[in-house]
Amino acid sequence: MSTAVLRAGLIGLGSMGRNHARVLAGLEGVELVGVVDPMGDKNGWAQGAPVLSAVDELIALGIDYAVVACPTALHEEVGLQLADADVCALIEKPLADTVEGARRLVEAFESRGLVAGVGHIERCNPALRSLRSRLEAGELGDVFQVVTRRQGPFPHRIADVGVVKDLATHDIDLTGWVTGRTYASIAAHTVSKSGRPHEDMVSAVGQLSDGTMVNHLVNWLSPLKERFTSVTGERGCYIADTLTADLTFHSNAAVTTEWEALRAFRGVSEGDMIRYAIPKREPLLVEHELFRDAVRGEAADICTLRQGLRTVEVAAAVLESSVSGSTVRLSDGRQVGQELAS
Ligand SMILES: NC(=O)c1ccc[n+]([C@@H]2O[C@H](COP(=O)([O-])OP(=O)(O)OC[C@H]3O[C@@H](n4cnc5c(N)ncnc54)[C@H](O)[C@@H]3O)[C@@H](O)[C@H]2O)c1
Repeated sequence: MSTAVLRAGLIGLGSMGRNHARVLAGLEGVELVGVVDPMGDKNGWAQGAPVLSAVDELIALGIDYAVVACPTALHEEVGLQLADADVCALIEKPLADTVEGARRLVEAFESRGLVAGVGHIERCNPALRSLRSRLEAGELGDVFQVVTRRQGPFPHRIADVGVVKDLATHDIDLTGWVTGRTYASIAAHTVSKSGRPHEDMVSAVGQLSDGTMVNHLVNWLSPLKERFTSVTGERGCYIADTLTADLTFHSNAAVTTEWEALRAFRGVSEGDMIRYAIPKREPLLVEHELFRDAVRGEAADICTLRQGLRTVEVAAAVLESSVSGSTVRLSDGRQVGQELAS
């Protein structure tokens, strides 16, 4: 374990990179020594760090780790370059745009014993962190279903991947992370309504390894912005809003009803509703603190590249199902390429 100041670099100074630059520049125990972007720093987002045009110039400055926030299609190439130079990396989500690319990244960092993580930032959202702790503590009892909705307008900057790889990977990762389960199967429909080569709307239904049902509705075609996760189980239903970082619990009624018409109904009925008061720290700062601690050699709950690979595999299964029209089965978190009859 080391507490020396870590030398960090940033690759990609776009809409996400600017936030990484801001957080890295203020992060205790870390110095932002350089930023790479072939487009330079037109907007003054580099926080005073030198702006370079290529990754090898950053490596030549001598860095302990780099944050990779260039377009998804470049994650593999840039990540492999960092691993080759024995540099640790926090790579933005999704880990890569293909399953093969994600596997090569896992192999490159693991074989050299380098610390590497994926920026699945929803894991650092206060609402989902609280939800996960409550599920782990068994507060909901058996989990029946996870539903996510992630809707909004199209972000004009994303051109290299569709909404499944860009946005639904948040939902796939958070579902596995909050429940501690892997995906067993998935079926999906996609549409492309806006004239771009990739899909911009997806509806997916699947099952986790313990039988929990999952549903994801994700699109870039809504004039409203929504980031919704619900987990329904034996004792009620949690709802996490990751835009406001609020977590609410709708409990099943514990009181016995005297109304005959309701007594005949054998399902659940409405009980109390509680919105938890949870500390709301900036998710990106939490992500960076965890990664810094991991690079220092401390135990830190980061999203590993192997977990990032699983998410890319499930996203690939979503796309495969949308083409084949069949349910795709996954085994132990890995796609087995076997289809169930639809
Ligand atoms: N975690 C999140 O919530 C979140 C949110 C947005 C984006 N992202 C991810 O961050 C990545 C970047 O997305 P964005 O929205 O910032 O895109 P963006 O287009 O706004 O920015 C990408 C930047 O990378 C630069 N770039 C291009 N080629 C480069 C290279 N070879 N080396 C260095 N920089 C290069 C571009 O000039 C641009 O400034 C994507 O992988 C995306 O999925 C994550």
